[in-house]
Amino acid sequence: MATFGNGRRVAIVAGVRTPFAKAGTAFKSISAIDLGKLCVAELLQRTNLDGKEVQALVFGTVVPSVLAPNIAREVSLLPLLPKGVSRACASANQAITDAADQIALGQLDVAIAGGSESLSNIPILHAQGFADALVLASKAKSLPARLRALSRIRPKDLVPVTPAIAEPSTGETMGESAEKMAKLNGIAREEQDHFALRSHRLAAAGTADGRLTAEIMPVYVPPKFESVLTSDNGIREDTSYEQLAALRPVFDRKYGSVTAGNSSPLTDGGACVLLMNEEKAKSLGYTPLGIIKSYAYAALDPGEQLLQAPVLAAPVALKRAGLTLKDIDLVEMHEAFAAQVLSNLKGFESKRWAERAGFSQPVGEVDRAKLNVMGGSIAIGHPFGATGARITTTLLNELGRRNGQFGLMTVCTAGGMGFAMVVERTR
Ligand SMILES: CC(C)(COP(=O)(O)OP(=O)(O)OC[C@H]1O[C@@H](n2cnc3c(N)ncnc32)[C@H](O)[C@@H]1OP(=O)(O)O)[C@@H](O)C(=O)NCCC(=O)NCCS
Repeated sequence: MATFGNGRRVAIVAGVRTPFAKAGTAFKSISAIDLGKLCVAELLQRTNLDGKEVQALVFGTVVPSVLAPNIAREVSLLPLLPKGVSRACASANQAITDAADQIALGQLDVAIAGGSESLSNIPILHAQGFADALVLASKAKSLPARLRALSRIRPKDLVPVTPAIAEPSTGETMGESAEKMAKLNGIAREEQDHFALRSHRLAAAGTADGRLTAEIMPVYVPPKFESVLTSDNGIREDTSYEQLAALRPVFDRKYGSVTAGNSSPLTDGGACVLLMNEEKAKSLGYTPLGIIKSYAYAALDPGEQLLQAPVLAAPVALKRAGLTLKDIDLVEMHEAFAAQVLSNLKGFESKRWAERAGFSQPVGEVDRAKLNVMGGSIAIGHPFGATGARITTTLLNELGRRNGQFGLMTVCTAGGMGFAMVVERTR
């Protein structure tokens, strides 16, 4: 990244998102494309920005619709935006850093970046036997030949194939990886449940006092549009440690500790941020929330500790920003699973992990009073493609409220990858 040092600072002007809704609930009939369009249109309206100013839209989704694989292109077809400025991306963080790099390099001045996900609408595939029979039938030249082809279908071929949240390289699901990390890092079930409880309590408080809802647009629920969702519907303000402790492990039923309560739920939602060259933002009359100081990606072997790579990315991002953990006022860490967050936090304190990242000293102990102060993905939800933009907005908004200066965010991802970014408040 030869950027952010050439004088062109990248400002984050504003961010907004839809409420996050548990998959199969309020947003089950809204596509990821429409979730993306909703939040991008809202962002333009809230910032009163003329869509013609937007030179690029970089947008991510993780489980794309097979019918419309380029989500950025579809979202950019909003009448408010100039056509043909989009580019598909893997995730909201990748979208944000791609757009930021282009701004820092002087290729662009204004961009919107984010992502959306509908886990209510994941593609369901036919089994190979069924697909083969259909292809054969479609090629048949006579009715008897077509019937012969279709008669090859066996009952087992009718069982649909749903994509698992599993690693193509190892076959291990995210939940199994979290389970493995809990065991390797000695994270007890009690700690995981306490962390999940904390996530719900803080998210409920952030919703009640309006800090979380400030970043959320209301969304009317199709098909009747009679009810409206104004906040995240997975937050359980009434959950208790006892209720969490009573849940059965999901991914290792006999010896496991990862439950539905201490995992992030499958979620629908969209989120995006408005990025500008800082000078351009000033010339348009905006006071940005903050600037991107640095970022870093890292990866490890997916067969090892799948969700531990933030531990490798964070020290690099801090070093690139010329800061240490002591300088950081708030930390936003994506909560895929409580076991993963607690493993990442342990990794930050470990000399062994520091050395793996190429440093002699660990990042250090994250002050819990600065960590995910309005809860995280366990309570708020985790629409895969959107979470990175949600965290970016949450972090900058809260830095502003607390008069903090620097914020660190981390995200773990499939494929054993990790992301970290340092932002600085300027508002
Ligand atoms: C863990 C997972 C399988 C659970 O799915 P689920 O069984 O549909 O989850 P539910 O929300 O129905 O919860 C199951 C039960 O736990 C209960 N529960 C969940 N969270 C709770 C909480 N905080 N307090 C009390 N009860 C809770 C629910 O009420 C439900 O109870 P019921 O069966 O009596 O209705 C699913 O959320 C998952 O796959 N998550 C991980 C996603 C992932 O891999 N993400 C990638 C990370 S990068």
